[in-house]
Amino acid sequence: MIPSPGPGPALEARIDTLVARLDLERKVRLLTGASAWTTHDEPAVGLRAMVLSDGPAGVRGQVEDERSTSANLPSPTALAATWDESLVERLGRLLAAEARRKHADVLLGPTVNLQRTPLGGRHFECLSEDPLLSGRIGAAYVGGVQAGGVAATAKHYVANDSETDRFTVDVRVDERTLRELYLTPFEQLVRDGGAWVVMAAYNGVNGSTMTESPLLADPLKREWGFDGVVVSDWSATRSTEASARAALDLVMPGPQGPWDGELVAAVRAGRVPEAAVDDKVRRLLLLAARVGALEGVDPAAPAPDPPAAGDVAALLRAAAAAGSVLVRNQAATLPLATDGLHRVAVIGPNAAVARTQGGGSVRVTPDHVVSPLDGLRAALAPLGVEVVHALGARIPAGIEPLPEDEELDHAAALARDADAAVVVVGTTDEIESEGFDRASMALPGRQDELVHRVAATNPRTVVVVNTGSPVSLPWRDEVPAILLSWFGGQELGNALADVLLGRVEPGGRLPTTWGAREQDVPVLHARPVAGRLRYGEGIHVGYRAWARTGAVPAFPFGHGLGYTTWSYEHVVAPATVAAGEDLVARVRLRNSGRRAGREVVQAYLSRASSAVERPAVWLAGFAVVDAQPGETVIAEVRVPARALRHWSVDAHRWEVEPGGFELTAGRSVADRPLATDVTVVAS
Ligand code: BGC
Repeated sequence: MIPSPGPGPALEARIDTLVARLDLERKVRLLTGASAWTTHDEPAVGLRAMVLSDGPAGVRGQVEDERSTSANLPSPTALAATWDESLVERLGRLLAAEARRKHADVLLGPTVNLQRTPLGGRHFECLSEDPLLSGRIGAAYVGGVQAGGVAATAKHYVANDSETDRFTVDVRVDERTLRELYLTPFEQLVRDGGAWVVMAAYNGVNGSTMTESPLLADPLKREWGFDGVVVSDWSATRSTEASARAALDLVMPGPQGPWDGELVAAVRAGRVPEAAVDDKVRRLLLLAARVGALEGVDPAAPAPDPPAAGDVAALLRAAAAAGSVLVRNQAATLPLATDGLHRVAVIGPNAAVARTQGGGSVRVTPDHVVSPLDGLRAALAPLGVEVVHALGARIPAGIEPLPEDEELDHAAALARDADAAVVVVGTTDEIESEGFDRASMALPGRQDELVHRVAATNPRTVVVVNTGSPVSLPWRDEVPAILLSWFGGQELGNALADVLLGRVEPGGRLPTTWGAREQDVPVLHARPVAGRLRYGEGIHVGYRAWARTGAVPAFPFGHGLGYTTWSYEHVVAPATVAAGEDLVARVRLRNSGRRAGREVVQAYLSRASSAVERPAVWLAGFAVVDAQPGETVIAEVRVPARALRHWSVDAHRWEVEPGGFELTAGRSVADRPLATDVTVVAS
């Protein structure tokens, strides 16, 4: 990963000189946007306007239609499902090139709020229910974007984990949970990823709206040493003095906002110190220096060369395959053997229409999309395999769904006469979107019935689930193979064909638990009561909560099958480790199958007896390995010191409890065949 260069004394001194050249009005003017997507320029100090652009699954730019198209990446859930930091960093570099092509300096992503509930409207836009995985994938994303000289934005700081009443909801969360869960990915993006921008969220936390929150000053700026810009979410700033005194730096969008003349007056009246304004301007100028918007200062990184169109498509295709999670594969149904395959029925509402992204500010307009039907036709036609298609069921868009009996009958008949059936079920960007939470995990319309009908007529039925976040799969034991494609980005269909035909392995592992029954989901809804949303489950979120209740999900966190098999043989870790030190666990495993493969080796920690309350189990580290058939490899899994610490609410600081932790290793939270003990000693 590329560390973000610090400003250095020469640049700091220069910025101080520039700030001193500006009077109060000119300084304050810089702190509100000039338009919806731009900041003000200030020729007196050689500052040009900077352009901010939405992401995170592409760079929209200021024009948002087919006149200026954008590469459409797989949904962030799919990126996290790769568990592959080097691939995500490459995607970040692509985003930097996209940003430069679209004249953007700041990309408004990644989103590192946690998937507290599967129904969260922006679940598809977040990375994971686990803070460590969110932080590592998010930091790799930041590293890639910023290596191209474009600022990445860690958003939305903090506890913006659902959408109901999103502008006003006041999240009530205890100090320890905030630190160990919701702040952790932001800490990793700032400290490890070196993010240059953080976005303050719409919601409040414990009584303060985030644009006025004390959490902006501490831990963000003080404890973590964040030297970048805190930008408000769009129209999130509601006050002049409280937000200016808090550590918010930039009000967006402009040109109107609550700062301007009111802030000048507040400074003159002594109600906001001018030093606070200077600090904000300094940060803005440092950001400008980093992205190349300050005359006479070299940007932190040169602009990347624009990639060739073919390279973009190839990378997006590889990324979609790497994020696809094969959750079930009975009797080696996949990869589809093409011997004796004459006709394949490709069925379902998401087969012919590519659902490549979720809705809201994340949306981009790609120059082309490859639907599952297009992708499978292109791959199967040269092999002489006929592809037939039926809609089967509709996703209701209006009030009255159309009668579908005939469509269901037709789909079942096509499936019966085919050698294999691929049913592509899912949602749309109207169902999974910013702005509201989903009401249920059920697939909309009669899609479940469609799968039952097809599976009953064709035993070789593969279901592709084309959603950004978890849905219920009540038929999961009736079909031999299920592949989660997420909202796979513009190359979805080609990637799907690569995976189904075994040209590429399905590389993904679940970054979030897929529940079987809604009643078992630890936190299903996020419905505020009297304006407050209480995170009453505390530190027991996602798989940590499932492990505690013992309820069995449809598919556990970390789960995902490849096309080979693995045998986990041995784990070694240091018997003792000093508090505050990282450790490395070495996991020996063998590719016991007949194909080359890639495995995500996961290490978890638990502690049976402890003086503090703990999750039943928590992810401590992971590593990706590749091996040929029969080959034995050692995965080196780094467990950072932060995985062994806990937040003390008495001392208000991180502490490490000396004593024994159990370290387990395996392929998902529910499949950890190896264990060893690690004793932490006081340093
Ligand atoms: C969203 C942000 C987005 C901004 C600008 C807000 O409504 O919450 O994620 O970056 O709009 O579009």
